[in-house]
Amino acid sequence: MIEGYEQDVADAEERLAAAADLDAVAGIERDMLGRRSKFTEAKRRLGELDAGERAAAGRRLNEARGRVEAAVAAARGRLAAADRAERYAAERLDLTERLDLAERLRPTERLHPAERLRLAERLRQQAVSSRGRFHPVTQARDRLEDVFVGMGYTVAEGPEVETAWYNFEALNIPDWHPARGSFDTIFVDLGAPEEVMLRSHTSPVQIRVMEKRKPPVYIVAPGRTFRTDTADATHLPAFNQIEGLAVDRNITMGDLAGTIDEFVRAFFGREVKSRLRPSYFPFTEPSAEFDISRPDGSWLELGGCGMVHPNVLSNCGIDPEEWQGFAFGFGIDRLAVMRHEIDDIREFVNSDTRFLSQF
Ligand code: DAH
Repeated sequence: MIEGYEQDVADAEERLAAAADLDAVAGIERDMLGRRSKFTEAKRRLGELDAGERAAAGRRLNEARGRVEAAVAAARGRLAAADRAERYAAERLDLTERLDLAERLRPTERLHPAERLRLAERLRQQAVSSRGRFHPVTQARDRLEDVFVGMGYTVAEGPEVETAWYNFEALNIPDWHPARGSFDTIFVDLGAPEEVMLRSHTSPVQIRVMEKRKPPVYIVAPGRTFRTDTADATHLPAFNQIEGLAVDRNITMGDLAGTIDEFVRAFFGREVKSRLRPSYFPFTEPSAEFDISRPDGSWLELGGCGMVHPNVLSNCGIDPEEWQGFAFGFGIDRLAVMRHEIDDIREFVNSDTRFLSQF
């Protein structure tokens, strides 16, 4: 079996050069280099040759295989580049049609009035569909602010980098408290260990507001919050919450329930109901989680709330004998996900205009 492979290599190169897609290349690769190919068979039979012949035949075989492998790689490269070019061409925005339309609509252009009307409508539709808009999460935040401002609240802000005092201690979460672990906090390498962090919730804004202002206080505080979560369909490491705080005389759990109910109806629609379920948060006592009703009668959890813990009021120099308060907090991104029934929260950070332009 002293044979050359010139013809085989030449055939393979010719077929590969003519291959129209990646599947065709894979087929040729299988024919030429696969388990049932001539090359593989020849390699198996090398053992039948005597030692002198075997070395030379092996070398020839390897050289031929190498050339076919190189031709396969070249064909793959060529087709991948063509595929990419085709995709780019398909995704390129065509701005010329718009120009054409505008051109043909010039008053000097002779057009049947009906045709002119039709073109003008197309031009208007193009303009509407390409107009920019706010991100859906920004839209949700703006609407939340509107609803609460309508209920007499003002909007407050706090820093995204916080100290342990504001993020935890003043909120009745001392450093031995197990609840600290549940916040999956991202610490900043500044000062003492675990002293400076990206805020893990918007609750520290409660403290910052009460430190500065004497009651009565009615505020909401929307903003970015951070946790060590890995991004998946329901989590983002950087997300948004909104916090609410009301401090006044004679505030009760009934006021809290009524406020949540009013907000839920204003935001989701009059037919949507809310309910409170007992829960635990260190900064409120009693604490609850609140749910909203779905058309099928089931409930969806939205956020946490409760009566501001007396320790939290004292930490801000407010006398808990004289003043009471309620607070609540929930995720804005999650709210937008629920409202628009989005499958994957990561869509919000992909910056894909085809997704974003739906809102
Ligand atoms: N800060 C809590 C969290 O991120 C949410 C929360 C619960 C806020 C109860 C509140 C509250 O103001 O009263 O999990």
